[in-house]
Amino acid sequence: VSTFPSRLPVLVDPPAAPPLRWGILGPGTIAADFTAALLAHTGQRVVAAGSRSAHRSAAFASRFGIPTSYGSYDALLADPEVDAVYIATPMSEHFAQAAAAIAAGKHVLVEKSFMRTADEAVRIRDIRRGTAVFVMEAMKTLYVPQMRLLRLLLDDGVLGELDTATAQFGSATTFDANSRLFDPALGGGVVLDIGVYPLAFARSVLGDFDRVDVSGTLASSGVEDSFSAVLTTSTGARATAAASWRSTSALRAEVGGSAARVAIGEPFHNTAPLELISNDGSRLGFFDDRRPGRQGLSYQAEAMAGYIAEGRTESPVHSLDDSIALMRLIDRVRAGAGARFDDER
Ligand SMILES: NC(=O)c1ccc[n+]([C@@H]2O[C@H](COP(=O)([O-])OP(=O)(O)OC[C@H]3O[C@@H](n4cnc5c(N)ncnc54)[C@H](OP(=O)(O)O)[C@@H]3O)[C@@H](O)[C@H]2O)c1
Repeated sequence: VSTFPSRLPVLVDPPAAPPLRWGILGPGTIAADFTAALLAHTGQRVVAAGSRSAHRSAAFASRFGIPTSYGSYDALLADPEVDAVYIATPMSEHFAQAAAAIAAGKHVLVEKSFMRTADEAVRIRDIRRGTAVFVMEAMKTLYVPQMRLLRLLLDDGVLGELDTATAQFGSATTFDANSRLFDPALGGGVVLDIGVYPLAFARSVLGDFDRVDVSGTLASSGVEDSFSAVLTTSTGARATAAASWRSTSALRAEVGGSAARVAIGEPFHNTAPLELISNDGSRLGFFDDRRPGRQGLSYQAEAMAGYIAEGRTESPVHSLDDSIALMRLIDRVRAGAGARFDDER
């Protein structure tokens, strides 16, 4: 029997992590937000940028004061001054780039979704295990303060027996055949792009699912552009997870148990407010908004630097087995929505 606490646990900032020397692979939208967040909030160093074009990497490097830029990804991986790389390219490139980075002896942070398929994720885990390098998926949501607090509450059993989790991510997006989002050859589709957040949330609170029931729709390029899923664990707890490019939804998440529920406000996948609410309506609130929006990308990089300093090779919060399990769920949700990549037909 759990009792409702009189106050929330105090979340202590982790100690400042020793700096890694980062190289950025793929100077696109998220690479810019990641670099800005690192420079604004951490002692981490960004020492090189790599692109398929020397012009694009030089422009990125000059924008952020990065000392070195390369006109190929291989040249960046050959730089002995780089300790760790951040792979911020389309999903179609993640496998080959992660494998090349591991072979070059670099620690690797791979943007979500980790890979295109669970098969690729298994292969990367196995390649990693033959080496001493650290590899993790950049599932930023699991490293932001309210999710660290939620894990403490779950560990303390404050919610009682868990029964439901809900998370949704709708972001109306006009079809564009030239965008990576809609191109199956680049690993497009709403599940890999934003559906991964509600699915990762559901899995992080309820664990793995035995049953996966999905309804979804396809864009004209063949990738799925919306889904709603009901996910059921072996004990009968259920998550409902949804994502869409056809409409915009509130970006909220919730987890409910026999004693209390936790509601995470918008946008649940970045830094967001958390409320613990008892069955009779008592509320305790938390909001650490020091790194709003995509500035929260910096938490996972600091966590990774700390894990490496501790001698770890995978994240204790989201290991490569967790990434594989999440990719297996993603495979099932994509298939349930009716989407297949060419090599899955
Ligand atoms: N964590 C987050 O908040 C967040 C948000 C958005 C996206 N993401 C993830 O970050 C990754 C990149 O997304 P993004 O929105 O930043 O994409 P983007 O703006 O299109 O940038 C992707 C970069 O990848 C490089 N690239 C390498 N091979 C490519 C290819 N075959 N086709 C196209 N580009 C290629 C490009 O750099 P060069 O051409 O210069 O080499 C480009 O700058 C994806 O995995 C995505 O899921 C994460």
